[in-house]
Amino acid sequence: MTERILEVFQDLFSQRPLIAFAPGRINLIGEHTDYQEGLVFPAAVEQGIFVAIGRNQKGYCRLYSLDFDEEYTFSLDSISPQKGHWVNYVMGMLSQLKQAGFAPQSFDMVIGGTIPVGAGLSSSAALSIAIGTAITSLFNYQVSKKSLVLYAQKSEHLYAGVNCGIMDPYASAFGKKSHALLLDCRSNSHEEIPINLGHFGLVLVNSKVKHSLTDSAYNKRGLACEDSVNILKSEFPEIKTLRDIDISDLEKIEKILPQKLFPKAKHVISENHRVSEAAESLLKGDLANFGQLMNSSHESLSTDFEVSCAELDFLAAKAQSLPYILGSRMMGGGFGGCTLNLIDKKFLVDFKIQIQNSYQKQFGIIPDFIEVELSDGASVIHSDSTSF
Ligand code: GLA
Repeated sequence: MTERILEVFQDLFSQRPLIAFAPGRINLIGEHTDYQEGLVFPAAVEQGIFVAIGRNQKGYCRLYSLDFDEEYTFSLDSISPQKGHWVNYVMGMLSQLKQAGFAPQSFDMVIGGTIPVGAGLSSSAALSIAIGTAITSLFNYQVSKKSLVLYAQKSEHLYAGVNCGIMDPYASAFGKKSHALLLDCRSNSHEEIPINLGHFGLVLVNSKVKHSLTDSAYNKRGLACEDSVNILKSEFPEIKTLRDIDISDLEKIEKILPQKLFPKAKHVISENHRVSEAAESLLKGDLANFGQLMNSSHESLSTDFEVSCAELDFLAAKAQSLPYILGSRMMGGGFGGCTLNLIDKKFLVDFKIQIQNSYQKQFGIIPDFIEVELSDGASVIHSDSTSF
């Protein structure tokens, strides 16, 4: 991809660019907890987004997206959200940088990627982090990784309309090879946990469905959590988010919360607990327990938090029934995308056959299988810019 993007950039803009790469992410466990200041356990993967950039003296920016085979030109004075367009990710990051006091000059950019879009590997966060890394490196801005992460999150809120948490851009920026990040979304700090799975491996099954209303349903879940916190404040005045409720208080809060809110709060509270236990299990090499926690996470996301769908439930149940799968769960925001599976790698071929046959029979869709390796976070991978 680096060669390809270099070639396209040189053809279009007749100069050698700087190229930044930012990876997509998986999440081992800890779903829909980040926006309640909870715990998550993501890792960067090898697939990601490449952004080539070079200065121009045109007074306007020229962009080209390889995936969409589409050009876009805009002036730096006219940055505003463009409904549903990929340029939002460039404009969103630019507007954050401007707000922070930077004044980027006009540039040319080519964007390309190796992340399957819509699979739930967070191509959008990778895109924002790659764009941020490319722009700040080109103009030599001193911006910390953490600031880039916060800009990416804000950009997603303001330019894509999704009130996401910090997990995805954080994993893309801070990922570490062969490690997952035990990330505390209250302090926005993490611990690198080495992941040694022996002859087991992580495989994603892409359901290839993405049900509509995903974004609005996502935002609604955030609001439901906030409603619970407001109600619970009568009994627990010191709480700020559901992060502050301990699992031992579940029985107590069931009596306080309305029936429709309790299961959602229960998911967040129990999922935080599962994340801590999962990190301990992995540190001890107890893969079986980690797998059990993955299964419980799926159950909780599906039944209590209601962010799964028939396809994901089917894929998780089928995988969980196979003797060489230690755990399987939906991953990411939900309503489609992938399941994450912890598999004894010797049985990968059988797994693919079993899942493909049954899923195709049930839904008429051939799923994709993506083997993942845990990788490093964003960086500049080519800095030979001959720009002026
Ligand atoms: C999406 C969001 C994240 C997180 C997950 C669910 O990926 O971008 O912030 O909330 O959903 O865990």
